[in-house]
Formats: sequence, C-alpha cells, structure tokens
Amino acid sequence: MQKILVARPIFPDVIERLKQHFDVDWNNGDALPADELARRLADKDGALTAGDPIGAATLAAAPRLRVVSNMAVGYNNFDMAAFNAANVLGTNTPDVLNETTADFGWALMMAAARRIAESGQWLRAGRWEKWSFDSFLGADVHGSTLGVIGMGRIGQALARRARGFNMQVVYHNRSRVAPAIEAELNAQYLSKEDLLRRADHVVLVLPYTAENHHTIGAAELALMKPTATLTNIARGGIVDDAALAAALRERRIAAAGLDVFEGEPKVHPDLLTVPNVVLTPHIASASDATRRAMANLAADNLIAGLGVGPRAGRPPNPINPDVIGKARS
Ligand code: DGY
Repeated sequence: MQKILVARPIFPDVIERLKQHFDVDWNNGDALPADELARRLADKDGALTAGDPIGAATLAAAPRLRVVSNMAVGYNNFDMAAFNAANVLGTNTPDVLNETTADFGWALMMAAARRIAESGQWLRAGRWEKWSFDSFLGADVHGSTLGVIGMGRIGQALARRARGFNMQVVYHNRSRVAPAIEAELNAQYLSKEDLLRRADHVVLVLPYTAENHHTIGAAELALMKPTATLTNIARGGIVDDAALAAALRERRIAAAGLDVFEGEPKVHPDLLTVPNVVLTPHIASASDATRRAMANLAADNLIAGLGVGPRAGRPPNPINPDVIGKARS
C-alpha cells in the first residue's frame, strides 16, 4: 500500500476516505516545522498539505514523493520549479471556494466601510451612552465604485455581486478578461494606478507571486481616496502591511479589511493597534460546506494523482500536468 502524509488537521471522514487507499500518517496537530515535515515525508509517496512550504530541499529528502495535494486554491507554498525539476505533481482546490470567498470579501469590505468591528468594540467597552447623529459615520457601498484587482474566478464572483448594490465595477488584472465577461459584469478595465484613484472600495483577489509582492505599498496607498477602503482576501505579502497600518493611522485611507497577512499567523503589531481595520484569521473560504468540499477535492486529487480510485491518473486539478506519467527524478 502506498504511504501518504496528511500534514495538517482535517475532517476525520476525509482521513477515513484516504485510509481506504493508503497507509496514512496524519499530523493532527500544529503545522510541522520544516525538518519534521521532511523527516515525515522521507518514506511517503504522496502528501496532503494546507499551505505548508514544499521546496527543493523537502523534495530531495523525499525520493518516493510523487504527488503533493494542497488544500487551497493558492499554491505559493509550492516551489513549482522544484516540483517540475523533480517530476512531482502539485494539485490545488480551485472553484469550490469561489462563491464562499466572494461572500467573505463583501463581508469584510462592508464591515470596513460601515465601521462594524470598530463600533462593536466601542460598544463592548461600555462607551455607548447616547445615540448621536455623527456616531461612526462611514462610507456607502451601494452606488459606489468597486475596484477589483485580480479578475479571476473569485474576482468575477465578487464583481457579480456588485450589480445588486448598483455599483460601478472597475478592475485590473494581468490581462483583460474576455469581452463577454466584461459585458456581463459591466466591468471596465483600468491600470492599477487609475483603479486606485477611482475606486471607493478596492478588493484584492490576485494570487501571490514574486511580481505581486507589495502590489499595494506606500505609493499605491497614496493614490487612493481618503474615503476609500482596501480589502485583502488574497495573500499576505501582496500588501505592505507596515505601510497600510501607517496609512490607516494617519487616515490617508478610511478603513481596511484584512483576512491575510505578511508572515501570518503573526500580524504586524501596528495593525493590531489601529481601530479602522477589520482583522480576520484567513477564513475567507471557511464555511463548513466549502472547507469540506476543499478537503474532499484535495483527497480526490491525491487519490487520482497516485493512480488509484475511479479517476486513477487523471487528478481533477493538476497544477503541472506535464509531469503526469513521468518517473520521479
Ligand atoms: C486558498 O484556498 O488559497 C485559501 O486562501 C485557503 O488557504
């Protein structure tokens, strides 16, 4: 029987599914440090990860490893050049989380715009003594301009919701989306700079890559309206968190909603002390149904990738399909 490592806690019924096909080593505890991860992978044929970094050294220490299935759509934790060099297949879990993540982007954006977290904390602190006409005045979402940076499947799901709020949609993406999609979303393509100048609510939905590091830094924040909000449901590192904390503190932008952070689970200490930011612990895809769908899709990818089950050899979501069928190197 092939051996696999499940590197993170996951739904027990998914572990039972995997046990029907594999000898399963399950880390049902904290994320494994790199040396422990490499030690546990040394005799494994496959692995199921959730954000665990897998690079050339880890692959070299695991000569039997052929498939690593990430329970996430983002796979910036994989060094894909190393995967390709070693003929190791990487897989991810796209699509099943699009709508749930888009819902959450809206929740964060609206909470930031209407100061929901900030006013709730004030209330809990016992500071509410009277109704006042100017308590926590925020920015309207309806009728405003939504700026989406990253118009992939989640960005499109996010933009689609704007219609019900009678919003204009502007977007920036590596390349323009098809005219039919622009027409359906009533979305106008802009340069990043023009989008930042024009949007009332900017939402980041782009993948993390070296080129996207600090896509939003001090210079970009300086282009935004002082009444604007910024929401990041993409990846830590896309925003310069220190620059954002300074912009929020100085009210150079109105508010932010952040689900992802540079160096998470650590959060930049300045973000913890500014009131006008809504902070959540990387839970944009965390509805019960969607996390179950992601876990089962990650299992499907691993089972098929390792050549067993009804889709043997045809995993649903290969990132580097060219390595399928090639001997491990
Ligand atoms: C994803 O799927 O990439 C989410 O951010 C969960 O990690």
